[in-house]
Amino acid sequence: MTESAESDETAVRRDRFSGGPARGFLSSLAADQAIFEADLAVDQAHVVMLAEQEIIEPHTAAEILGALDGIRTDGHGSLPEGEDVHEAIETAVIDRIGPEGGRMHTARSRNDEVAACIRFRLREGLLEVAAAVAELRDALTGVATEHVETVAPGYTHLQPAQPTTLAHFLLSYEQALARDSGRLLEAYDRVNTSPLGAAAFAGTPFDIDRHRTADLLGFDGIELNATDAVSGRDFLIESAADAAALGVTLSGLAEDLVIYANKGFVEIDDAYASTSSIMPQKKNPDTLELIRGTAGDSVGSLAGVVTTLKGLPRAYNRDLQRAHAGVFETLETVADSVDVAGGAVATASWDVAALSEAAATGFSTATGVADRLAASGVPFRTAHEVVAAAAETSTGEVTPAALDTAAETHLGESLFAYLSRDELEAALDPGESVANRDSAGGPAPAAVRSQLTHANSGIDDTRDAVTSRRASLAEAADRRREEVTGYE
Ligand code: ARG
Repeated sequence: MTESAESDETAVRRDRFSGGPARGFLSSLAADQAIFEADLAVDQAHVVMLAEQEIIEPHTAAEILGALDGIRTDGHGSLPEGEDVHEAIETAVIDRIGPEGGRMHTARSRNDEVAACIRFRLREGLLEVAAAVAELRDALTGVATEHVETVAPGYTHLQPAQPTTLAHFLLSYEQALARDSGRLLEAYDRVNTSPLGAAAFAGTPFDIDRHRTADLLGFDGIELNATDAVSGRDFLIESAADAAALGVTLSGLAEDLVIYANKGFVEIDDAYASTSSIMPQKKNPDTLELIRGTAGDSVGSLAGVVTTLKGLPRAYNRDLQRAHAGVFETLETVADSVDVAGGAVATASWDVAALSEAAATGFSTATGVADRLAASGVPFRTAHEVVAAAAETSTGEVTPAALDTAAETHLGESLFAYLSRDELEAALDPGESVANRDSAGGPAPAAVRSQLTHANSGIDDTRDAVTSRRASLAEAADRRREEVTGYE
């Protein structure tokens, strides 16, 4: 056995720093599995650029690229010990081809390397969530299309407030999710710039081409200042915040569906429900509750990354090693939540009769009656008082007679000086009330149809945005492969 094998010395880490009780604590190798593929891509792009810039010989580049191929085939699990994936891959390259492999790390540092890997990996995560959100929005508009005329109760403070339609309610979540999609895609565009070539934080004397590596990795440009390029992790905060905002949107949708299931308005498909292990009659909306719970993970992840990054000085500090893995994980968890929410929405069955009956309870048309009086010339505040007085004095349903009595008291004349009996009946009818609310964004069927058109075109836009970003990443991967193949 050689000296170095006994002491766990690697090509990268000299004997002095190779062992010791804190070795495992220092290592991110296990968590770095998430950036194994990213690191190989970053290595390939860097080596190709070094050869093109005549910083290393083409035959050396060929040997390193060949070693990297072998390392990819063997997989992350076969890497040698190391403080992280970057060191382990470099060690593996040197193990395979000897000291010439050490030229791979010319003109770079693990600082710019890891920052490039994080951004590379995060792009996939963001696109996966954005794509999933588009499908959930599609599920919502699909159900909404079927229920443009389905009158439903609308709540404030969980109390019956005004009638609306099921379509209008569902599209309220589609619109929120459209913003979530937009935020994720905007974050993507800020993530998609290359820090590679910043080296440790102070650049390099070698004549590198940062734009070339950026291009080979599918980045839209470079993070120019080398110190910021390695230090900056605000893109992690932004991604985590977008995931948290999405988690909160999803938790609201899940909570509403739990409540609606409880009221008998909707039945969650068996595939998205669970049973009790003891109470045979139970069917519980467990998937929705887990979606609601997952929002907690995403909010926690945001708090974690912000706390880790706060107060870090320039340029690199090892705290940074703890900042990204949680964000990758959260994006995956949130993407799963989005998928499940889409399935639950698409398969749920709505009880149109129960919704319509509930829409008529709790004097939900009170605002409509006040609006009708205001339209006939009564100041809205006075109309509000008349209807409020009728509601206060009525024990059950608010009748035209009760409203008329209130009008005599507050207006000094009959209600029917302002509107006909038919007009009053119409104002008291939930369906008529909904049909009247045809302002832009309102629940009247015509207004909802234009919201549907807007929503559907927004979904197409999101899908196109995801597709074009994925295509440009695939093109960069092709360019990389072609260059690498050229060295074989
Ligand atoms: N594993 C490290 C990380 O994730 C890589 C960078 C190490 N750089 C250093 N200067 N120790 O941050």
